[in-house]
Amino acid sequence: MKALPSEDPRSFTQQANIHCAYCSSAYQMGNSTMPLQVHASWLFFSFHRWYLYFHERILASLLGDDTFALPFWNYDHPDGMTIPHPYMAYPNLTDTLREPSHLPPAKIMLDYYYMNASIRTAEEQVAANLAIIYRMVVSGAPTQYRFFGQPYRKDDPAEPGYGTMETMPHNSVHGWTGDQNEVGKKDMGTLYAAGRDPVFYAHHASLDRFWDVWKSLGNDDIDDPDYLNSEFVFYNENAELIKVKVKDSLDSAKLGYVYEDVENVWLNWTTPRLSDGVASLTGFEKLCVMGEDLTEPCSLELSRDKEAALIGDETLLVEGIEGALSVPAHFEAFVNLPVATRATMINCTEYAGRFSTLAQNIVTNMTGDFLRTSSRFSIGSIVDSLELNDQESLVVTLVPNVDSPYAPVRISNLRLQYETEGLSRHRRQQLLQQRARARASKLSQQ
Ligand code: C2O
Repeated sequence: MKALPSEDPRSFTQQANIHCAYCSSAYQMGNSTMPLQVHASWLFFSFHRWYLYFHERILASLLGDDTFALPFWNYDHPDGMTIPHPYMAYPNLTDTLREPSHLPPAKIMLDYYYMNASIRTAEEQVAANLAIIYRMVVSGAPTQYRFFGQPYRKDDPAEPGYGTMETMPHNSVHGWTGDQNEVGKKDMGTLYAAGRDPVFYAHHASLDRFWDVWKSLGNDDIDDPDYLNSEFVFYNENAELIKVKVKDSLDSAKLGYVYEDVENVWLNWTTPRLSDGVASLTGFEKLCVMGEDLTEPCSLELSRDKEAALIGDETLLVEGIEGALSVPAHFEAFVNLPVATRATMINCTEYAGRFSTLAQNIVTNMTGDFLRTSSRFSIGSIVDSLELNDQESLVVTLVPNVDSPYAPVRISNLRLQYETEGLSRHRRQQLLQQRARARASKLSQQ
Protein backbone atom coordinates (compact mmCIF):
# COMPACT_ATOMS: atom_id res chain seq x y z
CA MET A 1 0.00 0.00 0.00
CA LYS A 2 2.83 2.37 0.86
CA ALA A 3 4.68 1.45 -2.34
CA LEU A 4 1.77 2.28 -4.67
CA PRO A 5 2.00 5.57 -6.58
CA SER A 6 0.19 8.29 -4.68
CA GLU A 7 -2.39 8.83 -7.47
CA ASP A 8 -3.65 5.28 -6.92
CA PRO A 9 -6.74 5.47 -4.70
CA ARG A 10 -5.55 2.30 -2.96
CA SER A 11 -2.23 3.89 -1.95
CA PHE A 12 -1.52 4.67 1.68
CA THR A 13 -1.34 8.38 0.86
CA GLN A 14 -4.83 8.35 -0.63
CA GLN A 15 -6.13 6.14 2.15
CA ALA A 16 -5.00 8.73 4.69
CA ASN A 17 -6.49 11.54 2.61
CA ILE A 18 -9.94 9.93 2.51
CA HIS A 19 -10.29 10.95 6.10
CA CYS A 20 -10.51 14.63 5.45
CA ALA A 21 -12.44 14.31 2.27
CA TYR A 22 -15.09 13.61 4.89
CA CYS A 23 -14.16 16.11 7.54
CA SER A 24 -13.29 19.48 6.12
CA SER A 25 -13.07 19.64 2.37
CA ALA A 26 -16.32 18.39 0.88
CA TYR A 27 -19.92 19.50 0.56
CA GLN A 28 -23.05 17.45 1.14
CA MET A 29 -24.29 15.75 -2.00
CA GLY A 30 -26.88 17.94 -3.65
CA ASN A 31 -26.13 20.97 -1.49
CA SER A 32 -23.10 22.94 -2.59
CA THR A 33 -23.33 25.37 0.31
CA MET A 34 -23.40 22.93 3.21
CA PRO A 35 -20.01 21.47 4.21
CA LEU A 36 -19.88 17.79 5.09
CA GLN A 37 -18.43 16.53 8.36
CA VAL A 38 -18.74 12.94 9.57
CA HIS A 39 -17.37 13.67 13.04
CA ALA A 40 -19.46 14.93 15.96
CA SER A 41 -22.66 13.33 14.66
CA TRP A 42 -24.43 9.96 14.35
CA LEU A 43 -22.37 9.23 11.21
CA PHE A 44 -19.21 8.74 13.26
CA PHE A 45 -19.37 4.96 13.82
CA SER A 46 -20.72 3.94 10.44
CA PHE A 47 -18.40 6.15 8.39
CA HIS A 48 -15.31 4.80 10.15
CA ARG A 49 -16.54 1.23 9.87
CA TRP A 50 -16.85 1.57 6.09
CA TYR A 51 -13.53 3.37 5.93
CA LEU A 52 -11.80 0.46 7.75
CA TYR A 53 -13.71 -2.08 5.71
CA PHE A 54 -12.35 -0.83 2.39
CA HIS A 55 -8.90 -0.25 3.88
CA GLU A 56 -8.88 -3.86 5.06
CA ARG A 57 -10.16 -5.23 1.73
CA ILE A 58 -7.47 -3.31 -0.15
CA LEU A 59 -4.76 -4.63 2.17
CA ALA A 60 -6.12 -8.18 1.82
CA SER A 61 -6.06 -7.93 -1.96
CA LEU A 62 -2.56 -6.43 -2.05
CA LEU A 63 -1.38 -9.23 0.25
CA GLY A 64 -3.24 -11.86 -1.75
CA ASP A 65 -4.65 -13.08 1.56
CA ASP A 66 -8.39 -13.01 1.82
CA THR A 67 -8.28 -13.85 5.52
CA PHE A 68 -6.33 -10.71 6.42
CA ALA A 69 -8.02 -8.64 9.14
CA LEU A 70 -7.01 -5.37 10.76
CA PRO A 71 -6.05 -5.73 14.41
CA PHE A 72 -7.62 -3.60 17.12
CA TRP A 73 -5.75 -1.71 19.82
CA ASN A 74 -7.15 -3.25 23.00
CA TYR A 75 -6.45 -0.19 25.18
CA ASP A 76 -9.47 -0.92 27.35
CA HIS A 77 -7.60 -3.86 28.86
CA PRO A 78 -4.70 -3.31 31.31
CA ASP A 79 -2.43 -5.39 29.05
CA GLY A 80 -3.16 -3.21 26.01
CA MET A 81 -2.49 0.25 27.42
CA THR A 82 0.66 1.08 25.43
CA ILE A 83 1.22 1.60 21.69
CA PRO A 84 0.90 -1.98 20.40
CA HIS A 85 4.17 -3.75 19.70
CA PRO A 86 3.75 -4.26 15.90
CA TYR A 87 3.22 -0.52 15.49
CA MET A 88 6.60 0.04 17.11
CA ALA A 89 8.50 -2.90 15.60
CA TYR A 90 7.62 -2.96 11.89
CA PRO A 91 8.95 0.02 9.96
CA ASN A 92 5.85 0.14 7.74
CA LEU A 93 3.65 0.46 10.80
CA THR A 94 5.64 3.13 12.62
CA ASP A 95 5.39 6.88 12.27
CA THR A 96 7.94 9.55 13.12
CA LEU A 97 5.31 12.05 14.25
CA ARG A 98 4.42 10.43 17.56
CA GLU A 99 5.04 11.91 20.97
CA PRO A 100 8.39 10.46 22.15
CA SER A 101 7.42 10.50 25.81
CA HIS A 102 4.30 8.43 25.04
CA LEU A 103 6.10 5.52 23.40
CA PRO A 104 6.16 2.21 25.35
CA PRO A 105 6.30 1.64 28.25
CA ALA A 106 4.25 4.85 28.74
CA LYS A 107 0.67 3.99 29.73
CA ILE A 108 -2.02 5.44 27.53
CA MET A 109 -4.16 8.16 29.12
CA LEU A 110 -7.68 7.62 27.83
CA ASP A 111 -8.64 10.89 29.53
CA TYR A 112 -5.69 12.75 28.00
CA TYR A 113 -5.97 16.49 27.51
CA TYR A 114 -2.31 17.47 27.01
CA MET A 115 -1.62 17.12 30.71
CA ASN A 116 1.61 15.77 32.07
CA ALA A 117 1.84 12.01 32.55
CA SER A 118 3.51 12.45 35.93
CA ILE A 119 0.27 13.63 37.55
CA ARG A 120 -0.71 9.95 37.93
CA THR A 121 0.91 6.71 38.93
CA ALA A 122 0.62 3.90 36.39
CA GLU A 123 -1.86 2.19 38.68
CA GLU A 124 -4.07 5.29 38.95
CA GLN A 125 -3.99 5.67 35.20
CA VAL A 126 -5.15 2.10 34.61
CA ALA A 127 -8.04 2.66 37.05
CA ALA A 128 -8.94 5.95 35.35
CA ASN A 129 -8.84 4.30 31.91
CA LEU A 130 -11.19 1.51 32.96
CA ALA A 131 -13.58 3.93 34.66
CA ILE A 132 -13.71 6.05 31.50
CA ILE A 133 -14.56 3.15 29.23
CA TYR A 134 -17.31 2.05 31.62
CA ARG A 135 -18.64 5.61 31.65
CA MET A 136 -18.56 6.02 27.88
CA VAL A 137 -20.08 2.63 27.01
CA VAL A 138 -22.48 2.02 29.91
CA SER A 139 -23.44 4.65 32.47
CA GLY A 140 -22.84 7.74 30.32
CA ALA A 141 -24.42 6.28 27.17
CA PRO A 142 -27.96 5.38 28.24
CA THR A 143 -29.55 6.42 24.94
CA GLN A 144 -28.74 5.75 21.31
CA TYR A 145 -27.95 9.37 20.53
CA ARG A 146 -25.67 9.64 23.53
CA PHE A 147 -23.68 6.66 22.29
CA PHE A 148 -23.73 7.25 18.53
CA GLY A 149 -23.90 11.06 18.37
CA GLN A 150 -26.64 13.50 17.48
CA PRO A 151 -28.84 13.31 14.35
CA TYR A 152 -27.29 14.83 11.23
CA ARG A 153 -29.58 15.01 8.20
CA LYS A 154 -29.27 16.47 4.74
CA ASP A 155 -28.94 20.27 4.83
CA ASP A 156 -28.12 20.27 8.56
CA PRO A 157 -25.10 22.31 9.69
CA ALA A 158 -22.05 20.21 10.62
CA GLU A 159 -21.25 18.94 14.12
CA PRO A 160 -24.64 18.60 15.83
CA GLY A 161 -22.95 16.85 18.78
CA TYR A 162 -20.62 14.05 19.83
CA GLY A 163 -21.46 10.59 21.05
CA THR A 164 -19.67 9.64 24.26
CA MET A 165 -16.89 7.56 22.70
CA GLU A 166 -15.90 10.30 20.31
CA THR A 167 -14.52 12.54 23.06
CA MET A 168 -12.94 9.72 25.07
CA PRO A 169 -11.23 7.49 24.07
CA HIS A 170 -11.42 8.73 20.48
CA ASN A 171 -10.17 12.30 20.67
CA SER A 172 -7.98 11.65 23.69
CA VAL A 173 -6.11 8.75 22.04
CA HIS A 174 -5.58 10.89 18.93
CA GLY A 175 -4.19 13.75 21.01
CA TRP A 176 -2.05 11.49 23.19
CA THR A 177 -0.41 9.68 20.28
CA GLY A 178 0.54 12.66 18.10
CA ASP A 179 3.78 14.60 18.48
CA GLN A 180 3.17 17.32 21.06
CA ASN A 181 5.69 19.63 19.38
CA GLU A 182 3.93 19.60 16.03
CA VAL A 183 1.21 22.08 15.14
CA GLY A 184 -2.09 20.31 15.84
CA LYS A 185 -0.12 17.41 17.47
CA LYS A 186 0.06 15.63 14.15
CA ASP A 187 -0.02 13.07 12.83
CA MET A 188 -2.62 11.52 15.11
CA GLY A 189 -3.66 14.70 16.88
CA THR A 190 -5.28 16.41 13.92
CA LEU A 191 -7.98 15.07 11.62
CA TYR A 192 -6.37 15.76 8.25
CA ALA A 193 -3.08 14.00 9.19
CA ALA A 194 -4.30 11.27 11.54
CA GLY A 195 -4.61 8.56 8.84
CA ARG A 196 -0.90 8.89 8.05
CA ASP A 197 -0.05 7.00 11.21
CA PRO A 198 -0.84 3.28 10.71
CA VAL A 199 -1.91 3.02 14.35
CA PHE A 200 -4.92 5.17 13.36
CA TYR A 201 -6.53 2.06 11.84
CA ALA A 202 -5.95 -0.02 14.99
CA HIS A 203 -7.37 2.82 17.10
CA HIS A 204 -10.49 2.96 14.94
CA ALA A 205 -10.84 -0.83 14.93
CA SER A 206 -11.01 -0.55 18.72
CA LEU A 207 -13.78 2.06 18.49
CA ASP A 208 -15.53 -0.13 15.94
CA ARG A 209 -15.41 -3.00 18.42
CA PHE A 210 -17.13 -0.85 21.05
CA TRP A 211 -20.08 -0.51 18.66
CA ASP A 212 -20.45 -4.32 18.71
CA VAL A 213 -19.94 -4.39 22.48
CA TRP A 214 -22.66 -1.76 23.02
CA LYS A 215 -25.08 -3.88 21.02
CA SER A 216 -24.04 -7.04 22.84
CA LEU A 217 -25.25 -5.36 26.05
CA GLY A 218 -28.81 -5.58 24.74
CA ASN A 219 -28.97 -2.26 22.89
CA ASP A 220 -30.24 -1.54 19.40
CA ASP A 221 -29.05 0.46 16.44
CA ILE A 222 -30.81 3.71 15.55
CA ASP A 223 -33.65 2.92 13.14
CA ASP A 224 -34.30 6.41 11.77
CA PRO A 225 -34.48 6.12 7.94
CA ASP A 226 -32.42 9.29 7.52
CA TYR A 227 -29.65 7.57 9.42
CA LEU A 228 -29.97 4.19 7.73
CA ASN A 229 -30.02 5.66 4.23
CA SER A 230 -27.08 8.03 4.64
CA GLU A 231 -24.45 7.25 2.00
CA PHE A 232 -20.68 7.43 1.59
CA VAL A 233 -18.43 6.69 -1.36
CA PHE A 234 -15.13 4.79 -1.15
CA TYR A 235 -12.69 3.16 -3.55
CA ASN A 236 -12.62 -0.63 -3.28
CA GLU A 237 -9.76 -3.08 -3.79
CA ASN A 238 -10.16 -2.80 -7.58
CA ALA A 239 -9.88 1.00 -7.41
CA GLU A 240 -13.59 1.33 -8.31
CA LEU A 241 -15.71 3.99 -6.67
CA ILE A 242 -18.44 2.32 -4.59
CA LYS A 243 -21.46 3.87 -2.87
CA VAL A 244 -22.45 2.38 0.48
CA LYS A 245 -25.20 3.02 3.02
CA VAL A 246 -25.18 3.19 6.81
CA LYS A 247 -27.79 0.42 6.98
CA ASP A 248 -25.40 -2.08 5.40
CA SER A 249 -22.76 -1.46 8.05
CA LEU A 250 -24.77 -2.35 11.15
CA ASP A 251 -23.70 -6.00 11.30
CA SER A 252 -19.94 -6.42 11.21
CA ALA A 253 -20.27 -10.14 10.50
CA LYS A 254 -21.89 -9.27 7.15
CA LEU A 255 -18.75 -7.29 6.35
CA GLY A 256 -16.68 -10.39 6.95
CA TYR A 257 -15.34 -10.01 10.46
CA VAL A 258 -16.14 -10.57 14.12
CA TYR A 259 -14.06 -9.36 17.03
CA GLU A 260 -12.13 -11.73 19.23
CA ASP A 261 -14.07 -12.31 22.41
CA VAL A 262 -11.69 -10.50 24.77
CA GLU A 263 -12.66 -9.81 28.35
CA ASN A 264 -14.23 -6.39 28.94
CA VAL A 265 -12.70 -5.89 32.37
CA TRP A 266 -14.29 -2.44 32.71
CA LEU A 267 -17.85 -3.81 32.79
CA ASN A 268 -19.34 -3.34 36.28
CA TRP A 269 -16.65 -0.85 37.17
CA THR A 270 -17.49 1.31 40.16
CA THR A 271 -16.13 4.77 40.80
CA PRO A 272 -15.31 6.58 44.04
CA ARG A 273 -17.65 9.25 45.25
CA LEU A 274 -16.02 12.57 46.18
CA SER A 275 -18.77 14.70 47.66
CA ASP A 276 -21.46 14.23 50.27
CA GLY A 277 -24.20 15.18 47.86
CA VAL A 278 -26.08 18.28 48.91
CA ALA A 279 -23.99 18.93 52.00
CA SER A 280 -21.08 20.30 50.00
CA LEU A 281 -23.10 22.59 47.77
CA THR A 282 -23.11 25.78 49.74
CA GLY A 283 -20.95 28.67 48.81
CA PHE A 284 -19.78 28.15 45.27
CA GLU A 285 -18.35 31.45 44.18
CA LYS A 286 -17.92 31.60 40.46
CA LEU A 287 -21.14 31.56 38.44
CA CYS A 288 -21.03 30.55 34.78
CA VAL A 289 -21.81 33.58 32.63
CA MET A 290 -23.54 32.91 29.32
CA GLY A 291 -21.89 34.31 26.21
CA GLU A 292 -18.54 34.93 27.90
CA ASP A 293 -15.34 32.91 27.46
CA LEU A 294 -15.11 30.09 29.99
CA THR A 295 -11.66 30.51 31.49
CA GLU A 296 -11.97 29.09 35.01
CA PRO A 297 -14.20 26.61 36.83
CA CYS A 298 -17.74 27.93 37.25
CA SER A 299 -21.04 26.58 38.54
CA LEU A 300 -24.78 27.04 38.12
CA GLU A 301 -27.72 25.66 40.05
CA LEU A 302 -30.29 24.09 37.70
CA SER A 303 -33.81 23.16 38.68
CA ARG A 304 -34.94 19.65 37.84
CA ASP A 305 -38.17 17.80 37.14
CA LYS A 306 -38.28 14.86 39.56
CA GLU A 307 -41.24 13.21 37.84
CA ALA A 308 -39.74 13.41 34.38
CA ALA A 309 -36.50 11.98 35.75
CA LEU A 310 -38.33 8.76 36.64
CA ILE A 311 -39.36 8.22 33.03
CA GLY A 312 -36.65 9.69 30.86
CA ASP A 313 -32.91 9.93 31.13
CA GLU A 314 -31.83 13.11 32.87
CA THR A 315 -29.44 14.97 30.60
CA LEU A 316 -27.35 18.09 31.01
CA LEU A 317 -27.62 20.08 27.81
CA VAL A 318 -24.91 22.63 27.06
CA GLU A 319 -26.17 24.77 24.21
CA GLY A 320 -24.55 27.26 21.88
CA ILE A 321 -20.93 26.21 22.34
CA GLU A 322 -18.81 28.56 20.22
CA GLY A 323 -15.10 28.87 19.67
CA ALA A 324 -12.41 28.26 17.04
CA LEU A 325 -11.95 25.12 14.92
CA SER A 326 -8.22 25.47 14.34
CA VAL A 327 -7.34 24.97 18.01
CA PRO A 328 -8.69 22.32 20.36
CA ALA A 329 -11.30 23.18 22.98
CA HIS A 330 -12.02 21.40 26.21
CA PHE A 331 -14.09 21.44 29.38
CA GLU A 332 -15.19 18.85 31.93
CA ALA A 333 -18.63 18.76 33.59
CA PHE A 334 -19.44 17.68 37.15
CA VAL A 335 -22.67 17.27 39.13
CA ASN A 336 -22.83 18.56 42.71
CA LEU A 337 -19.10 19.04 43.00
CA PRO A 338 -18.60 22.81 42.87
CA VAL A 339 -15.11 22.40 44.32
CA ALA A 340 -13.99 20.60 41.14
CA THR A 341 -10.81 21.97 39.57
CA ARG A 342 -8.38 20.95 36.85
CA ALA A 343 -6.72 18.70 39.43
CA THR A 344 -9.90 16.71 40.17
CA MET A 345 -9.55 13.10 39.04
CA ILE A 346 -12.35 12.47 36.62
CA ASN A 347 -12.94 8.84 37.55
CA CYS A 348 -15.36 9.87 40.30
CA THR A 349 -19.12 9.45 40.57
CA GLU A 350 -19.77 13.20 40.21
CA TYR A 351 -18.09 13.37 36.81
CA ALA A 352 -20.63 13.99 34.04
CA GLY A 353 -18.37 14.05 31.00
CA ARG A 354 -16.14 15.96 28.67
CA PHE A 355 -16.47 18.31 25.77
CA SER A 356 -13.34 18.20 23.62
CA THR A 357 -12.44 18.84 20.01
CA LEU A 358 -9.47 17.99 17.80
CA ALA A 359 -7.75 20.79 15.92
CA GLN A 360 -8.95 21.07 12.32
CA ASN A 361 -7.03 22.32 9.33
CA ILE A 362 -8.50 25.69 8.41
CA VAL A 363 -6.78 25.85 5.03
CA THR A 364 -9.05 23.12 3.75
CA ASN A 365 -11.99 23.88 5.98
CA MET A 366 -14.73 25.64 4.14
CA THR A 367 -16.73 26.68 7.17
CA GLY A 368 -14.02 29.09 8.34
CA ASP A 369 -12.44 28.99 11.75
CA PHE A 370 -15.72 28.75 13.57
CA LEU A 371 -16.89 26.04 15.93
CA ARG A 372 -20.58 25.94 16.75
CA THR A 373 -22.08 22.93 18.48
CA SER A 374 -23.82 21.71 21.61
CA SER A 375 -23.07 18.96 24.06
CA ARG A 376 -25.12 16.54 26.14
CA PHE A 377 -24.18 14.61 29.24
CA SER A 378 -26.38 11.86 30.65
CA ILE A 379 -26.47 12.29 34.39
CA GLY A 380 -29.35 10.00 35.37
CA SER A 381 -27.14 7.28 36.79
CA ILE A 382 -25.01 9.90 38.61
CA VAL A 383 -28.15 11.26 40.26
CA ASP A 384 -29.05 7.68 41.26
CA SER A 385 -25.60 6.93 42.68
CA LEU A 386 -25.43 10.19 44.63
CA GLU A 387 -29.01 9.60 45.81
CA LEU A 388 -30.18 12.97 44.57
CA ASN A 389 -33.49 11.72 43.14
CA ASP A 390 -35.53 13.80 45.59
CA GLN A 391 -33.66 17.04 45.04
CA GLU A 392 -35.37 20.01 43.39
CA SER A 393 -32.11 21.21 41.84
CA LEU A 394 -28.57 20.21 40.98
CA VAL A 395 -25.38 22.21 40.83
CA VAL A 396 -23.48 21.79 37.62
CA THR A 397 -19.81 22.76 37.44
CA LEU A 398 -17.84 23.27 34.23
CA VAL A 399 -14.05 23.08 34.42
CA PRO A 400 -12.43 24.49 31.28
CA ASN A 401 -8.86 24.05 30.14
CA VAL A 402 -7.45 27.11 28.40
CA ASP A 403 -3.72 26.39 28.64
CA SER A 404 -1.92 26.25 25.30
CA PRO A 405 -2.88 24.75 22.86
CA TYR A 406 -6.50 25.08 24.03
CA ALA A 407 -8.59 28.15 23.34
CA PRO A 408 -11.68 29.03 25.38
CA VAL A 409 -15.26 28.50 24.29
CA ARG A 410 -18.45 30.35 25.16
CA ILE A 411 -21.80 28.75 25.83
CA SER A 412 -25.27 30.22 25.53
CA ASN A 413 -27.35 28.03 27.85
CA LEU A 414 -27.24 25.25 30.42
CA ARG A 415 -30.32 23.21 31.30
CA LEU A 416 -31.60 19.77 32.22
CA GLN A 417 -33.79 17.78 29.88
CA TYR A 418 -35.32 14.31 29.98
CA GLU A 419 -34.88 11.92 27.07
CA THR A 420 -37.19 8.97 26.58
CA GLU A 421 -36.14 7.89 23.08
CA GLY A 422 -33.76 5.00 22.44
CA LEU A 423 -33.03 4.13 26.07
CA SER A 424 -30.39 1.47 26.66
CA ARG A 425 -31.30 -1.76 28.40
CA HIS A 426 -29.12 -0.82 31.38
CA ARG A 427 -30.92 2.51 31.81
CA ARG A 428 -34.39 1.03 31.35
CA GLN A 429 -33.66 -1.37 34.21
CA GLN A 430 -32.37 1.43 36.43
CA LEU A 431 -35.46 3.56 35.76
CA LEU A 432 -37.76 0.66 36.61
CA GLN A 433 -35.99 0.31 39.95
CA GLN A 434 -36.23 4.05 40.59
CA ARG A 435 -39.95 4.06 39.91
CA ALA A 436 -40.48 1.08 42.23
CA ARG A 437 -38.52 2.87 44.95
CA ALA A 438 -40.50 6.09 44.46
CA ARG A 439 -43.79 4.16 44.71
CA ALA A 440 -42.64 2.36 47.85
CA SER A 441 -41.65 5.59 49.57
CA LYS A 442 -44.98 7.20 48.63
CA LEU A 443 -46.84 4.26 50.14
CA SER A 444 -44.83 4.36 53.34
CA GLN A 445 -45.62 8.06 53.70
CA GLN A 446 -49.36 7.45 53.42
CU1 C2O B 1 -12.28 10.28 11.67
CU2 C2O B 1 -10.32 9.26 14.62
O1 C2O B 1 -11.22 10.27 13.30
